[in-house]
Amino acid sequence: MKAVYTIDDLVSRDVLDAGADKPARLAVIGHPVAHSASPKLHQAALDAAGIEARYIRLDIEPGQVSEALVRMRALGFLGCNVTVPHKLEVMECCELDFATSQLGAVNTVCFEETRTRGYNTDGPGFARAIEDDFGVALSELTIAIIGAGGGAGQAIATQCCLVGVRKLVLVNRTVEKLLPLVCRLKLLLPDLEIVTLSFDDEALADQCLTCDLLVNTSSVGLKEGDPSILPLACLKKEHLVYDTIYQPAVTPLLATADALGCKTANGLSMLIHQGALAFQHWFPGTEPLAEMKRALGRS
Ligand code: ATR
Repeated sequence: MKAVYTIDDLVSRDVLDAGADKPARLAVIGHPVAHSASPKLHQAALDAAGIEARYIRLDIEPGQVSEALVRMRALGFLGCNVTVPHKLEVMECCELDFATSQLGAVNTVCFEETRTRGYNTDGPGFARAIEDDFGVALSELTIAIIGAGGGAGQAIATQCCLVGVRKLVLVNRTVEKLLPLVCRLKLLLPDLEIVTLSFDDEALADQCLTCDLLVNTSSVGLKEGDPSILPLACLKKEHLVYDTIYQPAVTPLLATADALGCKTANGLSMLIHQGALAFQHWFPGTEPLAEMKRALGRS
């Protein structure tokens, strides 16, 4: 068994399953992929459900996604998860539903008998994480998305529209990057009120203070020594504060919010919920959430 497989291993069951006790039937494809937490989540859920299958890591080079999917299908895989940098490339290879095409990325593939379907469970996983962590429906909240121009920010902003929020505050270092997103969101939800701001806008603090939920979708907070993505003036103790980063578990933004007395949560819950939703696409009717929480020490 290997910690990471490549496209060259997708040639036969003999090669792929050499030394393994169960057949590989699911995978996460990415480049790199060695760091992915998905195998831990999904193998725990497979084992708990008594499903005889292995979930493996597959390092696939950009440009080889369709070839990898063809080989996985031929070998009898049920599907795969998709991570950076393949979430856009894989869209070309799958049939998409409306929500997934709006979310603009695919993180879950299902090989069905007559078709290959692509889903996005990151957006719905975010909505479930907010409900789980804060006990309130996403649709009830006014939300500021910090770093809304990145891939994660765009998916979360779109999910907010899919559930029908009334107002979004979108903050990005380069505010011009938000324009195409804003047009898409307005077509999706014409009554939505959208405010766009850069970090040096005078209205930043006032706009953040009108929101119920602040979400960091930028990469600021990942590296040691990063500052809080928002100054203290943007926070109040009534805020719910969510950081999509989960390593480190407490980013400078969350530390500042914790000190103020805000309710806070990190991206681990989104990781778990997107995983549970993916698993349910492959195995409808299963309830993998509790097992996945346990696997990541969240029970
Ligand atoms: P992607 O998710 O598309 O790969 P990314 O380059 O990882 O994008 O950036 C994600 C988000 O973090 C973006 O909103 C980015 O802001 P810009 O669009 O202005 O580049 C934001 N970001 C990254 N570094 C930042 C910093 N030092 N200060 C503020 N925002 C930052």
